[in-house]
Amino acid sequence: MINIAILASGSGSNAEKLMEYFANHSLIKITLLGSNKEEALALTKAKRMNVESWAFSNNDLKNGVVLHKLKEKKIDYIILAGFLALIPKQIIQAYPEKIINIHPSLLPNFGGKGMYGMNVHNAVKKAQKLYSGLTVHLVNEEFDQGKILFQARVKLQDLDTEENIAQKVLQLEHRYFSSVVESYCLLFAG
Ligand code: GRF
Repeated sequence: MINIAILASGSGSNAEKLMEYFANHSLIKITLLGSNKEEALALTKAKRMNVESWAFSNNDLKNGVVLHKLKEKKIDYIILAGFLALIPKQIIQAYPEKIINIHPSLLPNFGGKGMYGMNVHNAVKKAQKLYSGLTVHLVNEEFDQGKILFQARVKLQDLDTEENIAQKVLQLEHRYFSSVVESYCLLFAG
């Protein structure tokens, strides 16, 4: 089995899609859902789906506790699904090309520091873009600059509000993220 850990800080709708998608998979298992926010809905969703859930502190992330847990659980890939803390160097180095993030814009546009959640969609709206979309990319030591694995775009209308844009992008994320993760993890299997 290929073991995946999902890290999520928020509502966890992408995490939920991943847990559903891989629930009966013959090669890939969601072994752990970790969150740096005790109150994250993502944790509740994991419990409901019988996936081990684990709340940790930002300190645990920095001081090796999280890395230790990932190793103990024999995690092969880490999926960031709305995870809002910086992944420390030690974890990036322990998992080279094995950490995948989803970002709600067409990188390199609207990425980098401060570009998360509604900040992204507000900026897209302000720039009057014709399209937005999602990017699935590898995580390296540069914020939002790892290798792009997949992008999909969605057309925007003048009348779209920031909330509409967020909705459109989230739908796209739900449609594609799990299968992109699956293909990437299976690339190196067997
Ligand atoms: C998604 O838009 C994702 O691209 C971003 O954070 C959001 C998470 O949403 N990184 P959810 O928690 O999966 O609903």
